[in-house]
Amino acid sequence: MEFNDVIHGHRSIREYEDREVSQELLDQILDTGIRASSSGNMQSYSIVVTKDEELKKKLYTAHMEQSMVVDAPILLTFCADFNRMRKWLSLNDAPVHFDNFMSFMIGAIDATLAAQNCALAAENAGLGICYMGSTLANCDQIGKLLNLPPNVVPVVGYSLGYPAENPAQRDRLPKHGIVHYDQYRDYSEEILEIYKERDEKGWKRYMDIPKLKEMTERLGLKNLAQIYTITKYTKESHHEFSQTVLNYLKIQNFMNNE
Ligand SMILES: Cc1cc2nc3c(=O)[nH]c(=O)nc-3n(C[C@H](O)[C@H](O)[C@H](O)COP(=O)(O)O)c2cc1C
Repeated sequence: MEFNDVIHGHRSIREYEDREVSQELLDQILDTGIRASSSGNMQSYSIVVTKDEELKKKLYTAHMEQSMVVDAPILLTFCADFNRMRKWLSLNDAPVHFDNFMSFMIGAIDATLAAQNCALAAENAGLGICYMGSTLANCDQIGKLLNLPPNVVPVVGYSLGYPAENPAQRDRLPKHGIVHYDQYRDYSEEILEIYKERDEKGWKRYMDIPKLKEMTERLGLKNLAQIYTITKYTKESHHEFSQTVLNYLKIQNFMNNE
C-alpha cells in the first residue's frame, strides 16, 4: 500500500477473523518495530507476543474483559525494559542503574515508538490493531501474567489480526487546534470551535448505541465533555489507575530517585 493510504486509512479494529497470522508476516511486523528510533539506541523495551489461548483468557480479565483480547489471534505487549540492559552492564563491570523514573519514561517512549511502527507495518499488510489502555491501567496484573522480571513494565499493547469489521473513520481535531508555531499559544473560547465536530460526531456515536443512549439519559448528561469525565474517565478511576502504576513502578524497581 502507499504510505499515505496506510497512515490516513487507519481505524482501530476490534473484531477479527478467525485466521492465523503467519510467522513470516509477524516477523516482518516485528522487524519494522525494532527499526524505530530509540533513546541512545539502548532499545530499552521488550515485545511480548501472546498467542496461547489459555493465557489470552487470563489476559482478557486483566484487560477489562475486552473481547478483542480473546478474538484476535495475537496480542502484542510493549514493555519498558531496563532488565536486559542492566544485566549487560553488570557483565561488563559497568555501573548498574537505570532503576529510576526517568529510565522508566525512556523505556516507555522507546516501547511506544516500536509499537506504532509495528502497528503501521501491520496495517500496511492488511491487518488491524486496537490499542488497549488496560495495558498500563492494569500493568501489575498483566506484568504478573507475562512473567515480567524487575525493571520491566507493560506500557502499551494491542490486539492484532485480520479485520472482521469495516468501521467508519473517527474524526480528529483540526490541525490548527493542535499545532503551535514557535511558541505555545494558549486557548480561549475558540476551543469550542476546535471541538465542534468532535462534540457533534461523538455525541451522535453515543446516541446511536441504545445501551449508551439509555445510560446518557439516565445520568442526565448533556454533552460529550460530560460523557468523558462523568462516565468514561472518572476522577476516581484515574486516581486508582495512577496508584496502580506508581505502586507497580516501585515494585518493578523503577522508583529509586534519591
Ligand atoms: C493508548 C491507547 C489506549 C487505547 N485503549 C483502548 C481500549 O482500551 N479499548 C478500545 O476499544 N480502544 C482503545 N484505544 C483506541 C482508541 O479508542 C482509538 O484509537 C480512538 O478512538 C481513535 O479511533 P481510531 O483509532 O479508529 O482512529 C486506545 C488507543 C490508544 C492510543
